[in-house]
Amino acid sequence: MKVDVVVIGAGAAGLMCAATAGARGRQVLVLDHAKQAGKKILISGGGRCNFTNMEVLPSNFLCDNPHFVKSALAQYSHWDFIAMVARHGIAYHERDHGQLFCDDSAKEIVQMLLSECDQHNVQIRLRSQIESVSRGEQGFSLATSQGRIQCDSLVVATGGLSMPKLGATPYGYQLAEQFGLTVKPTRAGLVPLTLQPEDKQHFEPLSGISLTTTVQALQGPAFTEQLLITHRGVSGPAVLQASNYRGVGEAVTVDLLPSDEVATLLAEAKQNTPKRQLLTVLSDWLPGRLAEALMARQGWANEQIAQLNKAQLDAIADTLNRFELKPAGDEGYRTAEVTLGGVDTDAISSKTMECKTVPGLFFAGEVMDVTGWLGGYNFQWAWSSGYVAGLNA
Ligand code: FDA
Repeated sequence: MKVDVVVIGAGAAGLMCAATAGARGRQVLVLDHAKQAGKKILISGGGRCNFTNMEVLPSNFLCDNPHFVKSALAQYSHWDFIAMVARHGIAYHERDHGQLFCDDSAKEIVQMLLSECDQHNVQIRLRSQIESVSRGEQGFSLATSQGRIQCDSLVVATGGLSMPKLGATPYGYQLAEQFGLTVKPTRAGLVPLTLQPEDKQHFEPLSGISLTTTVQALQGPAFTEQLLITHRGVSGPAVLQASNYRGVGEAVTVDLLPSDEVATLLAEAKQNTPKRQLLTVLSDWLPGRLAEALMARQGWANEQIAQLNKAQLDAIADTLNRFELKPAGDEGYRTAEVTLGGVDTDAISSKTMECKTVPGLFFAGEVMDVTGWLGGYNFQWAWSSGYVAGLNA
């Protein structure tokens, strides 16, 4: 069988790429080993798919070459995707931080992409195993469970490593290496952090408590969003965002009362209500059980606030506004939303997504060394890079 374009991966980027190439009149075949297309889209955003964001900037992405995302985001912006969603009559709403979600179901996004593919005669073959890929004078030749397939352009849209049970594989990285490209070291991103045993002992009983915090990794921006205490450690948007920037083994700083200067609050409490005990005072500002656990962890006695000297008050303020959390690690690909690292973008044209050294070989989506913040940015990267690959493949 011979087609113009083979896309490996019927996920977000692969389907967008296939529909775009099909619309140009290219004969497109999508291969995926899964038995269903767009599985990650279906489970995303709690089943409602946070498909993009009202504001998308290059600074919302991590990539060793920070300029790489600019061209694709300009060629196919969040407004373009929002227009497609609207054209298909999909109802959506905006949540905090500009995040856009379907009103009903993520299924609508998958149906939309499949119907765009269908309209442009894209063939999608699921349950297809790719055994080998080679490149000759006639383009690419794939040995697959569906037989031998020849194509002029090959698009690798196999995604990252997160959630292996949904069909994630390192195949895209292996293909990149086969063609001489570098793959930047990969690790779990947008991932919950686990606690050291001493901290776990104090915080595990609080599992389920969530509060607004500011979490910041050494090398990253500060994120003011919810932090959730879980059985294994800490999660919630603020933690997931900071996890992208956290170096292996590094601590993160948690401001447990981001809108307050605790030193000032404590000084006021000492002056106005000197007889109140520390736990009562802290419980005005934090969930009571968390205040109790923090006091136990730090070894603070439950004295009247008047009894505490300046050094003690400063130490309390510092802990609450700059709590240094040294995680044991993270929960890994099992629960991570994305994969940091991936195919080195230095080898890929940011304007076309074509490999600079292997004409006809394209990459789209998360398989590349591009990771977005939480908030619809990873899908936007899939749509933008998929579109650009589809325009050129
Ligand atoms: P994607 O993973 O979507 O697709 C890759 C495809 O390649 C899959 O269909 C896979 O089966 C196929 N494949 C892999 N190996 C293969 C092989 N060897 N042979 C054949 N096929 C192969 N992002 C966001 O912006 N908003 C959100 O709400 C969420 N929510 C979310 C929730 C959860 C639980 C997860 C795990 C992730 C998210 N994300 C997200 C991230 C988002 O899902 C992700 O970034 C995109 O799906 C990436 O799109 P890709 O097309 O690159 O990969």
